[in-house]
Amino acid sequence: MRQDHLITATQLSRDDIEAVLDRAREVADDPDAYADRHAGRVLALCFFEPSTRTRMSFDSAAKRLGIDTIDMGDVDSSSVSKGESLTDTVRVIEGYADALVLRHPSEGAATLAAEHVSVPVVNAGDGAGQHPSQTLLDLHTIRENHGLDDLTIGIMGDLKYGRTVHSLAAALTEFDVNQHFISPESLRLPRSVRFDLHETGAQIREHEELDPVLEELDVLYVTRIQKERFPDENEYHRVAGEYRIDAETLEAASDDLTVMHPLPRVDEIAPDVDETDHATYFEQAHNGVPVRMALLDTLLENAEAAEGMEVGR
Ligand code: CP
Repeated sequence: MRQDHLITATQLSRDDIEAVLDRAREVADDPDAYADRHAGRVLALCFFEPSTRTRMSFDSAAKRLGIDTIDMGDVDSSSVSKGESLTDTVRVIEGYADALVLRHPSEGAATLAAEHVSVPVVNAGDGAGQHPSQTLLDLHTIRENHGLDDLTIGIMGDLKYGRTVHSLAAALTEFDVNQHFISPESLRLPRSVRFDLHETGAQIREHEELDPVLEELDVLYVTRIQKERFPDENEYHRVAGEYRIDAETLEAASDDLTVMHPLPRVDEIAPDVDETDHATYFEQAHNGVPVRMALLDTLLENAEAAEGMEVGR
């Protein structure tokens, strides 16, 4: 992967994805070989929206590579609360760090940040836009369980506001995957995302119910209804809970079905699913560490190569 930043899944070719996932497998098999590989480097964690998994797994990944982390903290305790702009904020922080992980409520925020700094930027979620590092760990999880070709994947829930969905759907077009999208009409994939998927020639179908397709799925990727992105709370309450699965729902599924979820879940996957062999969402969350180690290693290696520096292998 010869990239300076990771902003969107659409920038990743199949070769790029496989290179990061191969490295993630190496990291998981032999983490000691990567310890202290980037000692002396600093990663800035800039989260303008809440996060548990992305923030902590990047922090953990960095530390396992010997990278120190600095955290902007909550928006309320930073100078963002005084009205500082995103571009001023990241231009300041680039002087403190060798790379920057950014989550922001506005779509396009990571693109804007990357235009204003010279250190690598990772988009850790921009509004309802993209979440490409989540996609890499999702693909890693799928590959470890099924491989990445000749698959049928169902993606269910909030397809309109779900940035993990937009990223994953785009990346899956690099592979031989049939994609089924299951949602209420009001939470369909945005027209622009559908257009881009069709442009790639991807096999996609849309449904309002899970039952007709469940049996043929290798992977069911469930997502949370994103309450915080609904302009109208009444509309949220109308659709919330409609796409809940439990162990009984999955009796009609293949024994090999893998159930994934980027988490956090609210009540769209009942706790009794956790006890089934289908549940893969905690494994998926844990994969965030080796995959983000592989990603940081790759981006810093690229940056160091551009500067003509040796990476401490
Ligand atoms: N999957 C994910 O992005 O989780 P967080 O919001 O906790 O980072």
